[in-house]
Amino acid sequence: MKIRGDLMINLGIIGTNWITKQFVNAGEETDSFKLAHVYSRTESKAQSFIDDLSKSNISISTDLEQFFSSNDFDAVYIASPNRLHFKQAKMAIEHGKNVILEKPSASNIREFTILDQLAHQKGVYMIEAARHIHEPIFKKVQEYVDNNREQLTGATISYMKYSSKFDDFLAGKKPNVFTTDFSGGALYDLGVYTVYDAVVLFGQPEEVKYQPEFLEDGIDGSGSLTLKYKDFDVNIIVGKTKNSYLPTEIYFGKKTLLLDNGGDITKVSEADDKKEIKEIPTTKSDNPMDSEAIEFARIINENDKAAYDKLFEYARKVNRILEQARMSAGLVFEADKEY
Ligand SMILES: NC(=O)c1ccc[n+]([C@@H]2O[C@H](COP(=O)([O-])OP(=O)(O)OC[C@H]3O[C@@H](n4cnc5c(N)ncnc54)[C@H](OP(=O)(O)O)[C@@H]3O)[C@@H](O)[C@H]2O)c1
Repeated sequence: MKIRGDLMINLGIIGTNWITKQFVNAGEETDSFKLAHVYSRTESKAQSFIDDLSKSNISISTDLEQFFSSNDFDAVYIASPNRLHFKQAKMAIEHGKNVILEKPSASNIREFTILDQLAHQKGVYMIEAARHIHEPIFKKVQEYVDNNREQLTGATISYMKYSSKFDDFLAGKKPNVFTTDFSGGALYDLGVYTVYDAVVLFGQPEEVKYQPEFLEDGIDGSGSLTLKYKDFDVNIIVGKTKNSYLPTEIYFGKKTLLLDNGGDITKVSEADDKKEIKEIPTTKSDNPMDSEAIEFARIINENDKAAYDKLFEYARKVNRILEQARMSAGLVFEADKEY
Protein backbone atom coordinates (compact mmCIF):
# COMPACT_ATOMS: atom_id res chain seq x y z
CA MET A 1 0.00 0.00 0.00
CA LYS A 2 1.23 3.51 -0.77
CA ILE A 3 0.26 6.63 1.10
CA ARG A 4 1.05 10.10 -0.16
CA GLY A 5 1.83 13.49 1.32
CA ASP A 6 1.59 16.95 -0.23
CA LEU A 7 4.57 19.31 -0.40
CA MET A 8 8.15 18.23 -0.93
CA ILE A 9 10.89 19.59 1.30
CA ASN A 10 14.50 19.67 0.06
CA LEU A 11 16.49 17.20 2.11
CA GLY A 12 20.15 16.86 3.09
CA ILE A 13 21.31 13.56 4.53
CA ILE A 14 24.09 12.37 6.83
CA GLY A 15 24.92 8.65 6.91
CA THR A 16 25.01 6.55 3.77
CA ASN A 17 23.85 3.20 5.15
CA TRP A 18 20.68 1.33 4.04
CA ILE A 19 18.42 3.15 6.51
CA THR A 20 19.12 6.50 4.82
CA LYS A 21 18.20 5.03 1.44
CA GLN A 22 14.97 3.77 2.95
CA PHE A 23 14.14 7.24 4.33
CA VAL A 24 15.00 8.97 1.04
CA ASN A 25 12.78 6.48 -0.80
CA ALA A 26 9.97 7.02 1.71
CA GLY A 27 10.30 10.80 1.33
CA GLU A 28 10.15 10.63 -2.45
CA GLU A 29 7.48 7.91 -2.76
CA THR A 30 5.18 9.95 -0.55
CA ASP A 31 6.07 13.33 -2.15
CA SER A 32 7.30 14.53 1.25
CA PHE A 33 11.07 15.05 0.92
CA LYS A 34 13.31 15.42 -2.14
CA LEU A 35 16.96 14.49 -1.89
CA ALA A 36 19.13 17.56 -2.58
CA HIS A 37 22.46 17.12 -0.79
CA VAL A 38 24.50 14.18 0.52
CA TYR A 39 27.15 14.45 3.23
CA SER A 40 29.63 11.61 3.57
CA ARG A 41 33.14 11.41 4.91
CA THR A 42 34.18 10.20 1.47
CA GLU A 43 33.14 11.52 -1.91
CA SER A 44 33.08 8.06 -3.50
CA LYS A 45 30.61 6.80 -0.87
CA ALA A 46 28.36 9.81 -1.42
CA GLN A 47 28.49 9.23 -5.18
CA SER A 48 27.64 5.54 -4.91
CA PHE A 49 24.77 6.39 -2.54
CA ILE A 50 23.41 8.73 -5.23
CA ASP A 51 24.06 6.19 -8.03
CA ASP A 52 22.30 3.42 -6.09
CA LEU A 53 19.23 5.63 -5.95
CA SER A 54 19.58 6.41 -9.71
CA LYS A 55 19.68 10.15 -9.02
CA SER A 56 21.51 13.03 -10.66
CA ASN A 57 22.11 16.72 -9.85
CA ILE A 58 22.55 16.03 -6.14
CA SER A 59 25.19 18.07 -4.25
CA ILE A 60 27.93 16.30 -2.33
CA SER A 61 29.89 17.55 0.69
CA THR A 62 32.64 15.87 2.63
CA ASP A 63 32.95 18.78 5.05
CA LEU A 64 30.19 19.34 7.61
CA GLU A 65 30.57 23.13 7.73
CA GLN A 66 30.31 23.34 3.94
CA PHE A 67 27.33 20.95 4.00
CA PHE A 68 25.31 22.93 6.55
CA SER A 69 26.22 26.30 4.98
CA SER A 70 24.56 25.19 1.76
CA ASN A 71 21.19 26.71 0.87
CA ASP A 72 19.95 23.81 -1.23
CA PHE A 73 18.14 21.99 1.61
CA ASP A 74 15.86 22.99 4.50
CA ALA A 75 15.80 19.77 6.52
CA VAL A 76 18.48 17.24 7.31
CA TYR A 77 17.98 13.55 8.08
CA ILE A 78 20.78 12.35 10.36
CA ALA A 79 21.42 8.59 10.49
CA SER A 80 24.95 8.41 11.82
CA PRO A 81 26.11 6.38 14.86
CA ASN A 82 24.28 7.58 18.02
CA ARG A 83 27.33 9.29 19.53
CA LEU A 84 27.57 11.68 16.56
CA HIS A 85 23.93 12.81 16.65
CA PHE A 86 24.58 15.59 19.17
CA LYS A 87 27.43 17.32 17.36
CA GLN A 88 25.81 17.00 13.93
CA ALA A 89 22.32 18.05 15.07
CA LYS A 90 23.79 21.01 16.98
CA MET A 91 25.57 22.21 13.84
CA ALA A 92 22.43 21.71 11.79
CA ILE A 93 20.30 23.74 14.20
CA GLU A 94 22.93 26.50 14.42
CA HIS A 95 22.69 26.77 10.62
CA GLY A 96 18.88 27.06 10.79
CA LYS A 97 18.06 23.61 9.41
CA ASN A 98 15.12 21.50 10.58
CA VAL A 99 16.47 18.21 11.90
CA ILE A 100 15.09 14.70 11.60
CA LEU A 101 17.27 12.74 13.92
CA GLU A 102 17.47 8.96 14.04
CA LYS A 103 16.59 7.44 17.37
CA PRO A 104 17.85 8.00 19.98
CA SER A 105 18.43 11.73 19.44
CA ALA A 106 21.30 11.93 21.89
CA SER A 107 23.65 9.87 24.07
CA ASN A 108 22.20 11.35 27.27
CA ILE A 109 19.57 13.76 28.52
CA ARG A 110 22.08 16.57 28.94
CA GLU A 111 22.79 16.55 25.21
CA PHE A 112 19.07 16.22 24.47
CA THR A 113 18.29 19.30 26.58
CA ILE A 114 20.98 21.40 24.90
CA LEU A 115 19.57 20.51 21.46
CA ASP A 116 16.04 21.28 22.64
CA GLN A 117 17.01 24.74 23.90
CA LEU A 118 18.98 25.54 20.79
CA ALA A 119 16.17 24.42 18.47
CA HIS A 120 13.78 26.70 20.38
CA GLN A 121 16.18 29.66 20.10
CA LYS A 122 16.68 29.12 16.38
CA GLY A 123 13.00 28.43 15.66
CA VAL A 124 13.59 25.10 13.91
CA TYR A 125 12.15 21.64 14.49
CA MET A 126 14.13 18.73 15.90
CA ILE A 127 12.15 15.56 15.35
CA GLU A 128 13.19 12.12 16.61
CA ALA A 129 12.60 9.52 13.91
CA ALA A 130 10.65 6.98 15.97
CA ARG A 131 9.43 5.27 12.82
CA HIS A 132 6.99 2.70 14.16
CA ILE A 133 4.70 4.95 16.24
CA HIS A 134 3.60 6.71 13.05
CA GLU A 135 2.52 3.56 11.25
CA PRO A 136 -1.23 2.86 10.87
CA ILE A 137 -0.75 -0.54 12.55
CA PHE A 138 0.68 1.10 15.68
CA LYS A 139 -2.19 3.62 15.72
CA LYS A 140 -4.57 0.65 15.70
CA VAL A 141 -2.87 -0.73 18.82
CA GLN A 142 -2.99 2.72 20.43
CA GLU A 143 -6.72 2.98 19.70
CA TYR A 144 -7.30 -0.48 21.23
CA VAL A 145 -5.37 0.45 24.39
CA ASP A 146 -7.22 3.76 24.71
CA ASN A 147 -10.60 2.05 24.33
CA ASN A 148 -9.78 -0.62 26.93
CA ARG A 149 -7.65 1.45 29.31
CA GLU A 150 -9.75 0.66 32.38
CA GLN A 151 -8.96 -3.06 32.03
CA LEU A 152 -5.23 -2.54 31.36
CA THR A 153 -3.10 -4.74 33.64
CA GLY A 154 0.39 -4.60 32.12
CA ALA A 155 2.48 -5.73 29.18
CA THR A 156 5.43 -7.86 28.13
CA ILE A 157 7.31 -6.34 25.22
CA SER A 158 9.87 -8.29 23.26
CA TYR A 159 12.33 -7.15 20.60
CA MET A 160 15.43 -9.30 20.17
CA LYS A 161 17.12 -9.73 16.83
CA TYR A 162 20.53 -11.27 16.17
CA SER A 163 22.49 -8.46 14.53
CA SER A 164 24.64 -9.15 11.46
CA LYS A 165 27.13 -6.81 13.14
CA PHE A 166 27.36 -9.20 16.10
CA ASP A 167 29.29 -11.60 13.86
CA ASP A 168 31.82 -8.79 13.30
CA PHE A 169 31.96 -8.22 17.05
CA LEU A 170 32.60 -11.94 17.66
CA ALA A 171 35.33 -11.80 15.01
CA GLY A 172 37.14 -9.19 17.11
CA LYS A 173 36.05 -6.09 15.13
CA LYS A 174 34.39 -3.12 16.84
CA PRO A 175 31.13 -2.30 15.03
CA ASN A 176 29.85 1.10 16.22
CA VAL A 177 26.59 -0.31 17.55
CA PHE A 178 28.43 -2.68 19.92
CA THR A 179 30.54 0.03 21.58
CA THR A 180 30.11 2.49 24.43
CA ASP A 181 32.25 4.88 22.30
CA PHE A 182 29.36 5.29 19.87
CA SER A 183 26.56 5.02 22.48
CA GLY A 184 25.42 1.68 21.12
CA GLY A 185 24.06 -1.50 22.70
CA ALA A 186 20.74 -3.31 22.78
CA LEU A 187 18.89 -0.69 24.84
CA TYR A 188 20.00 2.31 22.72
CA ASP A 189 19.29 0.47 19.49
CA LEU A 190 16.27 -1.87 19.53
CA GLY A 191 15.32 -0.92 23.09
CA VAL A 192 14.34 2.56 21.95
CA TYR A 193 11.34 1.15 20.05
CA THR A 194 10.11 -0.76 23.09
CA VAL A 195 10.43 2.28 25.36
CA TYR A 196 8.44 4.25 22.78
CA ASP A 197 5.77 1.52 22.91
CA ALA A 198 5.50 1.95 26.67
CA VAL A 199 5.55 5.76 26.70
CA VAL A 200 3.05 6.24 23.87
CA LEU A 201 0.67 3.48 24.98
CA PHE A 202 0.92 3.71 28.78
CA GLY A 203 2.54 7.06 29.64
CA GLN A 204 5.33 7.87 32.06
CA PRO A 205 6.49 5.05 34.37
CA GLU A 206 7.25 5.70 38.03
CA GLU A 207 10.33 3.48 38.25
CA VAL A 208 12.86 2.22 35.73
CA LYS A 209 15.24 -0.69 36.20
CA TYR A 210 17.51 -2.27 33.59
CA GLN A 211 19.38 -5.55 33.93
CA PRO A 212 21.76 -5.94 31.01
CA GLU A 213 23.80 -8.89 29.86
CA PHE A 214 27.11 -7.14 29.29
CA LEU A 215 29.50 -8.09 26.52
CA GLU A 216 33.26 -8.03 27.16
CA ASP A 217 33.67 -4.38 26.16
CA GLY A 218 31.05 -3.18 28.67
CA ILE A 219 28.17 -2.72 26.22
CA ASP A 220 24.78 -4.42 26.68
CA GLY A 221 24.25 -7.20 24.13
CA SER A 222 20.79 -7.86 25.56
CA GLY A 223 18.86 -7.14 28.72
CA SER A 224 15.58 -6.91 30.55
CA LEU A 225 13.98 -3.63 31.45
CA THR A 226 11.20 -3.20 33.98
CA LEU A 227 9.01 -0.11 33.91
CA LYS A 228 6.82 0.22 36.98
CA TYR A 229 3.54 2.08 36.59
CA LYS A 230 1.15 2.93 39.38
CA ASP A 231 -1.11 -0.11 38.85
CA PHE A 232 0.96 -2.50 36.72
CA ASP A 233 4.39 -3.42 35.38
CA VAL A 234 5.71 -3.42 31.85
CA ASN A 235 8.46 -6.00 31.30
CA ILE A 236 10.67 -5.57 28.27
CA ILE A 237 13.30 -7.85 26.77
CA VAL A 238 15.71 -6.46 24.19
CA GLY A 239 18.70 -7.96 22.49
CA LYS A 240 21.03 -7.87 19.51
CA THR A 241 22.83 -11.14 20.26
CA LYS A 242 19.92 -13.58 19.92
CA ASN A 243 16.65 -14.03 18.04
CA SER A 244 13.35 -14.03 19.91
CA TYR A 245 10.07 -15.15 18.40
CA LEU A 246 8.01 -14.23 21.45
CA PRO A 247 5.04 -11.99 20.71
CA THR A 248 4.53 -8.74 22.56
CA GLU A 249 1.52 -9.00 24.87
CA ILE A 250 -0.66 -6.30 26.39
CA TYR A 251 -2.95 -7.53 29.16
CA PHE A 252 -6.53 -6.46 29.78
CA GLY A 253 -7.77 -8.85 32.49
CA LYS A 254 -8.99 -11.96 30.66
CA LYS A 255 -8.19 -10.52 27.24
CA THR A 256 -4.71 -10.17 25.74
CA LEU A 257 -3.65 -8.10 22.77
CA LEU A 258 -0.88 -9.86 20.81
CA LEU A 259 1.59 -8.03 18.58
CA ASP A 260 3.98 -10.13 16.53
CA ASN A 261 6.86 -7.80 17.38
CA GLY A 262 7.66 -4.95 19.78
CA GLY A 263 9.34 -2.68 17.23
CA ASP A 264 8.20 -3.73 13.80
CA ILE A 265 4.57 -4.78 14.15
CA THR A 266 3.04 -6.59 11.17
CA LYS A 267 0.18 -8.45 12.86
CA VAL A 268 -2.17 -7.61 15.74
CA SER A 269 -4.62 -10.06 17.33
CA GLU A 270 -6.83 -10.35 20.35
CA ALA A 271 -6.96 -13.50 22.51
CA ASP A 272 -9.66 -14.36 25.02
CA ASP A 273 -9.34 -16.68 28.04
CA LYS A 274 -10.59 -19.63 25.95
CA LYS A 275 -7.44 -19.26 23.81
CA GLU A 276 -9.48 -18.06 20.87
CA ILE A 277 -7.37 -15.70 18.79
CA LYS A 278 -8.96 -13.17 16.46
CA GLU A 279 -6.83 -11.12 14.07
CA ILE A 280 -7.51 -7.39 14.04
CA PRO A 281 -7.42 -6.06 10.45
CA THR A 282 -4.77 -3.38 9.90
CA THR A 283 -2.71 -1.90 7.10
CA LYS A 284 1.05 -1.84 6.65
CA SER A 285 2.92 0.34 4.17
CA ASP A 286 5.49 -1.30 1.84
CA ASN A 287 8.12 1.08 3.19
CA PRO A 288 7.84 1.31 7.01
CA MET A 289 9.18 4.89 6.91
CA ASP A 290 6.38 6.25 4.68
CA SER A 291 4.11 7.32 7.53
CA GLU A 292 6.79 9.19 9.45
CA ALA A 293 8.04 10.92 6.29
CA ILE A 294 4.53 12.21 5.57
CA GLU A 295 3.98 13.35 9.16
CA PHE A 296 7.36 15.09 9.52
CA ALA A 297 6.91 16.95 6.23
CA ARG A 298 3.38 17.92 7.23
CA ILE A 299 4.54 19.29 10.60
CA ILE A 300 7.28 21.36 8.95
CA ASN A 301 5.12 22.58 6.04
CA GLU A 302 2.09 23.43 8.16
CA ASN A 303 4.19 24.61 11.11
CA ASP A 304 2.04 22.34 13.29
CA LYS A 305 3.48 23.25 16.66
CA ALA A 306 0.94 21.22 18.65
CA ALA A 307 1.74 17.98 16.81
CA TYR A 308 5.45 18.71 17.12
CA ASP A 309 5.22 19.37 20.87
CA LYS A 310 3.43 16.07 21.38
CA LEU A 311 6.13 14.14 19.53
CA PHE A 312 8.84 16.08 21.30
CA GLU A 313 7.39 15.22 24.72
CA TYR A 314 7.45 11.53 23.79
CA ALA A 315 11.08 11.91 22.73
CA ARG A 316 12.01 13.71 25.95
CA LYS A 317 10.38 11.00 28.09
CA VAL A 318 11.98 8.19 26.08
CA ASN A 319 15.45 9.73 26.24
CA ARG A 320 15.09 10.29 29.99
CA ILE A 321 13.96 6.69 30.57
CA LEU A 322 16.87 5.39 28.49
CA GLU A 323 19.29 7.33 30.66
CA GLN A 324 17.59 6.23 33.91
CA ALA A 325 17.79 2.63 32.70
CA ARG A 326 21.49 2.96 31.97
CA MET A 327 22.15 4.58 35.33
CA SER A 328 20.27 1.78 37.13
CA ALA A 329 22.64 -0.70 35.48
CA GLY A 330 25.90 1.27 35.70
CA LEU A 331 26.08 1.43 31.91
CA VAL A 332 28.22 4.45 31.06
CA PHE A 333 28.91 5.86 27.60
CA GLU A 334 32.08 7.71 26.63
CA ALA A 335 29.83 10.66 25.72
CA ASP A 336 28.78 10.94 29.40
CA LYS A 337 32.37 11.77 30.33
CA GLU A 338 32.56 14.82 28.08
CA TYR A 339 31.19 17.28 30.61
N1 LIG B 1 14.62 3.82 12.17
C1 LIG B 1 15.15 2.66 11.86
O1 LIG B 1 14.45 1.72 11.45
C2 LIG B 1 16.65 2.49 11.98
C3 LIG B 1 17.28 1.36 11.44
C4 LIG B 1 18.66 1.28 11.51
C5 LIG B 1 19.40 2.28 12.14
N2 LIG B 1 18.74 3.34 12.69
C6 LIG B 1 19.49 4.42 13.35
O2 LIG B 1 20.29 5.04 12.35
C7 LIG B 1 21.53 5.47 12.90
C8 LIG B 1 22.66 4.87 12.09
O3 LIG B 1 22.70 3.47 12.27
P1 LIG B 1 23.61 2.56 11.32
O4 LIG B 1 23.47 1.18 11.79
O5 LIG B 1 23.35 2.87 9.89
O6 LIG B 1 25.07 3.12 11.74
P2 LIG B 1 26.48 2.91 11.07
O7 LIG B 1 26.39 1.93 9.95
O8 LIG B 1 27.48 2.65 12.13
O9 LIG B 1 26.82 4.35 10.47
C9 LIG B 1 25.92 5.04 9.62
C10 LIG B 1 26.70 6.03 8.74
O10 LIG B 1 27.40 6.96 9.56
C11 LIG B 1 28.69 7.20 9.02
N3 LIG B 1 29.70 6.76 9.99
C12 LIG B 1 29.96 5.49 10.40
N4 LIG B 1 30.98 5.46 11.28
C13 LIG B 1 31.37 6.74 11.43
C14 LIG B 1 32.39 7.34 12.21
N5 LIG B 1 33.22 6.62 12.98
N6 LIG B 1 32.54 8.68 12.12
C15 LIG B 1 31.73 9.42 11.32
N7 LIG B 1 30.73 8.90 10.58
C16 LIG B 1 30.56 7.57 10.63
C17 LIG B 1 28.81 6.39 7.73
O11 LIG B 1 28.55 7.24 6.63
P3 LIG B 1 29.76 7.80 5.72
O12 LIG B 1 30.79 6.72 5.65
O13 LIG B 1 29.10 8.05 4.41
O14 LIG B 1 30.27 9.04 6.36
C18 LIG B 1 27.71 5.36 7.85
O15 LIG B 1 27.11 5.03 6.64
C19 LIG B 1 21.51 5.04 14.37
O16 LIG B 1 21.13 6.12 15.16
C20 LIG B 1 20.45 3.95 14.43
O17 LIG B 1 19.81 3.89 15.69
C21 LIG B 1 17.40 3.46 12.60
